[in-house]
Amino acid sequence: MERIVCVLIGYVFGLIQTGYLYGKTQHVDIRKQGSGNAGTTNALRTLGWKAGAVTFLGDCFKCVAAVVLVYFLFGRTDPEMFPVYAMYAGMGAVMGHNYPFYMNFKGGKGIAATAGLIVSTTNVWIVLICLCVFLGIVAGTRYVSLGSLAVVIVYFLSVVVYGQMGGFGVTGGHLYEIYAVAALLVLSAFYKHKENIKRLLSGTENKISVGKK
Ligand code: G3P
Repeated sequence: MERIVCVLIGYVFGLIQTGYLYGKTQHVDIRKQGSGNAGTTNALRTLGWKAGAVTFLGDCFKCVAAVVLVYFLFGRTDPEMFPVYAMYAGMGAVMGHNYPFYMNFKGGKGIAATAGLIVSTTNVWIVLICLCVFLGIVAGTRYVSLGSLAVVIVYFLSVVVYGQMGGFGVTGGHLYEIYAVAALLVLSAFYKHKENIKRLLSGTENKISVGKK
């Protein structure tokens, strides 16, 4: 039951579409501009640096906020299970971000929300590794989608290594549950990037550029 509540809490937080809301303040629907995605990259592309930064921070923070709420609801009384509950809250936040019911289920691709989950459930080394992989690939290729896909794979591998080292403080079935949720997040990211993957393979993917607003 707690797991379902955690997913629902995450989903509600995930519904806060920072990029879409920021665009509205500029009288722009970012889903009708650029790639049509309601996330950080498209906010950066269509509205500029400030919009990109605000969108990333907002979408990242909403996942952190969901995890914090889950901590106060369930984690304080059952600290051992908190890492598991946090993963479900993160999965819910990614789902709410990617599939907001009030926007005809057309949201973003969940990378900034996943970054929020990385920050709130792993350690500083994993955060730094993910950041370096992402920034290194984007700086080298200017393909944000490639950086996003690489980072979710690195995230999954890091979760497994961290889990095996006892980082989550859980063992057995609960540890595999954490791995399973992390694997679902990877699958979800690849599914949401399916058009980007086609373009990457055909050499027609959009390179990142910064809008003027
Ligand atoms: O996180 C989204 C990014 O990986 C790709 O965004 O707008 O180029 O499809 P976009």
